[in-house]
Amino acid sequence: MRKPIILAIESSCDETSAAIIINGKIVNNIVATQSVHENYGGVVPELASRAHEKHIVPIIDEAIKNAGITLQMLDAVAFTQGPGLLGALLVGASFAKSLAFSLDIPLIGVNHMQAHILAHFLDVPHPAFPFLCLTVSGGHTQIVKVESATKMEVIGQTLDDAVGEAFDKSAKLMGLTYPGGPLIDRYAAEGNPERFIFSDASIPGFNFSFSGIKTAFMYFLKDNMGKNSNFIEENRADICASLQHSLVRMLLQKLKKASDHTKIREIAIAGGVSANKGLRNELSILAEKKKWNVYVPKLEYCTDNAAMIAMNAHFKYLEKDFCDLSVTPQPRMVI
Ligand code: KG4
Ligand code: ZN
Repeated sequence: MRKPIILAIESSCDETSAAIIINGKIVNNIVATQSVHENYGGVVPELASRAHEKHIVPIIDEAIKNAGITLQMLDAVAFTQGPGLLGALLVGASFAKSLAFSLDIPLIGVNHMQAHILAHFLDVPHPAFPFLCLTVSGGHTQIVKVESATKMEVIGQTLDDAVGEAFDKSAKLMGLTYPGGPLIDRYAAEGNPERFIFSDASIPGFNFSFSGIKTAFMYFLKDNMGKNSNFIEENRADICASLQHSLVRMLLQKLKKASDHTKIREIAIAGGVSANKGLRNELSILAEKKKWNVYVPKLEYCTDNAAMIAMNAHFKYLEKDFCDLSVTPQPRMVI
């Protein structure tokens, strides 16, 4: 088989991204972030679709030119099939289908959550199979047992909000712009994580729940603002550090439980929230204690990007796992 050259497109949420992978090595990863959502406190689906339409051609053009190739040299086109926003997914899917049809090359549909996990294979060292991956993003919170690049099982997940949502919604309550997760992370660096305690519900198994802590946080702010209207301003760093510590503790408790149960000590984290410094620090302390080998993706591969779609597509290309042109986006696609 000749070296596969694959163009990958990611458009599941609010990042339009294109990447070229040649023989399993990533060549580039072009990302256009949509700032249009900042003032709305969350992603507005219709605005996301329109921004994808605006960005998709220039982004792909840039990826092709930057790689020093032509469209005719592509062996396959890959796209994010789901999960994600339907309108946003449609933009990437339609473009990928048209390109695959016009070039008469295979089309590869990729699961966004599997791709977050396989982002670990963009770099060395990468985890050995089987490994556990805590996948934490704006829409998902999962513990996945990864047996191979194609065989994965979700062994725990959130029963309500995703942890990224808990970060973003709490940030919104504090008057921070969207997405608030990175801002909480930044303020938390200066704060005392033990100052305020936000207790969590006890959920069975390896599952999570973040709706309780979100509500508790809302009442905490309301009560304190009632006593002192400058409470948030005067205590921002400590509030952020304490909230972040509570959320991270909830994640790591379940990861520890899953590792003890499965006896797997190869541990990875993935998804937007894996960029969080509090999570990275507390994970490395726990790893030392539990003798885990821990794998943390590069920051550019934590949040949404096409490089991870390309990596997943490379594995699928080797297995000839292609889809036909009648394929449709799957907003609720599962692992
Ligand atoms: O994986 P991702 O880019 O998109 C989804 O597939 O959802 O994740 C986005 C989420 C948002 O909730 C964002 O606030 C969160 O990741 N995030 C962070 C950090 N960077 C991104 N949360 C906490 N700390 C960060 N440093
Ligand atoms: Zn994502």
